[in-house]
Amino acid sequence: MKKKVVLITAGPTKEYIDPIRFISNDSSGKMGYLLAEESKKLGDVILISGPTCLKPPKGIKFIKVISASEMFNQVKKYFNKCDVFISCAAVSDYKVKNASKDKIKKTIGKLKLELISNPDILLEVSKEKYNNKRILVGFALETNNLIKNAQNKFIKKKLDIIIANEPSTINSDRSKGAIITEDKIKKFKSISKKSLAEIIIGDIRGVLTR
Ligand code: CTP
Repeated sequence: MKKKVVLITAGPTKEYIDPIRFISNDSSGKMGYLLAEESKKLGDVILISGPTCLKPPKGIKFIKVISASEMFNQVKKYFNKCDVFISCAAVSDYKVKNASKDKIKKTIGKLKLELISNPDILLEVSKEKYNNKRILVGFALETNNLIKNAQNKFIKKKLDIIIANEPSTINSDRSKGAIITEDKIKKFKSISKKSLAEIIIGDIRGVLTR
């Protein structure tokens, strides 16, 4: 197989309220970083990561971002060059409308924050999939109706593979859920994220060589 370019997003995004406070999602970035390591077997890897405590894998292009908008800008920059896009980031769906440039002082009573939508990065790039030439892989973290909700995202975001995860996966070294494709649901019970990364990249190789 010819060398491929794999673009991956990982970790959470942070949306600042003021220079000190932010809203975010709970995500260690472990799954995305393990996928970046494993993806080296397919070719060149570009990892766009929100803030994490992890060391990026060696031998890849690593781009650090903070917010969803920054992540989206970087994805747009590299998407046209990639053969595979793995959207593993826990992107904040909302950001604060008027983030304060100074630290917000304690006020009496309630503090109201107005939140506005962030771009859905995976949904936006799925519109430019270019006649199925590019492989799109997404993740879904669900507290209920795991398979059904993930399947809905699979269809809406025109994915080739979606990995449905249970909340116990967050910050853990293990994952529990299912790998879903158009015609298959492969359930897995608590496996290491490293093993899961190997399986996912194996499945992507399968799609690439089909
Ligand atoms: N995703 C993204 N940009 C967003 C939200 C999600 O790129 N603003 C990607 C994630 O990386 C993941 C997939 O879309 O691959 C599903 O993310 P998830 O947070 O599970 O679902 P949402 O589409 O945000 O839907 P909801 O929050 O309503 O469950």
